[in-house]
Amino acid sequence: MQGSLRGNKGPRYRHTAEDGAPYETITVDKLTPIIGAEIAGIDLSQPLSNRQHDEVHRALAENLVIFFRDQCITPDQHLAFGRLFGELHLHPAAPHEPGKPELMIIHADKDSPRANGEGWHTDVSCDLEPPMGSILYIKTCPPKGGDTLFASMYAAYDALSDRMKTYLDGLTAIHDGEHVYRGLFANFGVADKPTYPRAEHPVVRTHPVTGKKALYVNRWFTLRILGVPVAESDALLGYLYAHLEDPLFQCRFRWRPRSVAFWDNRCAQHRALWDYWPHTRSGNRVTIKGEKPV
Ligand code: SIN
Repeated sequence: MQGSLRGNKGPRYRHTAEDGAPYETITVDKLTPIIGAEIAGIDLSQPLSNRQHDEVHRALAENLVIFFRDQCITPDQHLAFGRLFGELHLHPAAPHEPGKPELMIIHADKDSPRANGEGWHTDVSCDLEPPMGSILYIKTCPPKGGDTLFASMYAAYDALSDRMKTYLDGLTAIHDGEHVYRGLFANFGVADKPTYPRAEHPVVRTHPVTGKKALYVNRWFTLRILGVPVAESDALLGYLYAHLEDPLFQCRFRWRPRSVAFWDNRCAQHRALWDYWPHTRSGNRVTIKGEKPV
């Protein structure tokens, strides 16, 4: 199949990023020009200075997902790092560490019926105010595999044709947790809730920090686009998913034990690969509350 970005007049998506002022307290090594950067020079087990905090925040805004290597953090330090960026989010369905409801368990091993995050998604987009960001700390890695892919929804939006952008302007879609979460965590002994969140969000949202537009539909949670016939919504979502999953918009992170990934759910999607069975991959996620998408 030809990618929707293929042509013979040069690249349809031309990424332009301004070179910001140099960082003072961290180093930022981009994985691709479009998304992802590895951050060095910071120890997340220690309190961050105001300057470090500002620079981590800026690196996240500029790169959508940032990675830290060789971090030795306790559950409380992980939670404290998350709280620097906002109030912590409680997952509507997933298992958490005993006594720590904000510390979600991410775990797959040889007996798992499934692994977390195997399809493209943004975290809990079915919430009325979906999470701003997620911070994943992986402690146990398989010998090979278990990478996570991240994709820029700014780039996916920018690369749409002007006609498609006009068409999408003002459309909203239903995001639903029911079909995703019911029964999903039974293997962890988590009982189902009577109901799961459901929300209507714009198909294109504007990031509250950068002011940039991002495509905001995902395969997991988005049920349908409102105001158009179901067949049109299905066809449109199918097109948008195929488009936004183009590798051009992606980076791929290879985990090592004690790596941390911090992604911005407002402008990035992610997908975890379960290619390491029968090995174990395990860690914790702290999720930061967000705002109503506009
Ligand atoms: C998730 O979607 O939070 C899981 C991501 C991962 O395990 O890499």
